[in-house]
Amino acid sequence: MKKKVTRKQPSKAAKKAGKKRASAPIRQTPKQKLYASLVVQLLSLLKGEYDKIANAANFSALLFNSLPNVNWAGFYFLQGEELVLGPFQGNPACVRIPMGTGVCGVAAQQCETIIVPNVHEFPGHIACDVASNSEIVVPLFDGERLIGVLDLDSPSIGRFDDQDAEGLNELVTVFVAHEEGLNDQ
Ligand code: SME
Repeated sequence: MKKKVTRKQPSKAAKKAGKKRASAPIRQTPKQKLYASLVVQLLSLLKGEYDKIANAANFSALLFNSLPNVNWAGFYFLQGEELVLGPFQGNPACVRIPMGTGVCGVAAQQCETIIVPNVHEFPGHIACDVASNSEIVVPLFDGERLIGVLDLDSPSIGRFDDQDAEGLNELVTVFVAHEEGLNDQ
């Protein structure tokens, strides 16, 4: 079982309601607030440093230590037709994942964020840590080009939702933009 994340277009009614309350303060959920604070912390960690491995290592440590109920957080980077393990926090993991294999390989092949509420129901899931029960994988793009994935595991079933997908996508966008030097302009 997997859940693809697509951006929903707001309905006409929602657009109208949005217009009416344009001046009302935007309320963030606690999870959205946490991700907003992680964007600030990530920018601060990245500032002035352009070593991709060092930055990916600190990024994974930030996620692992800030997000509750996560037992693995890290990167796989695309090399040819396979994903190769990058910086991470958690138990040792499988090093090479072919495109289209496991949650990471499917997210990479389909170029979309995948939320898996129960990894035991995902055909071909690669079990690196027996404690993992749910997972989210976010693809990383340099422009249109896929460069890897960010992978997070949790021991709780259904740990990740659309707010995690949105927050993590924003964080990887900040990360990749920094690697390209775009945050400094
Ligand atoms: N479960 C992943 C493999 C990587 S580990 O979770 C760290 C997958 O199925 O692709």
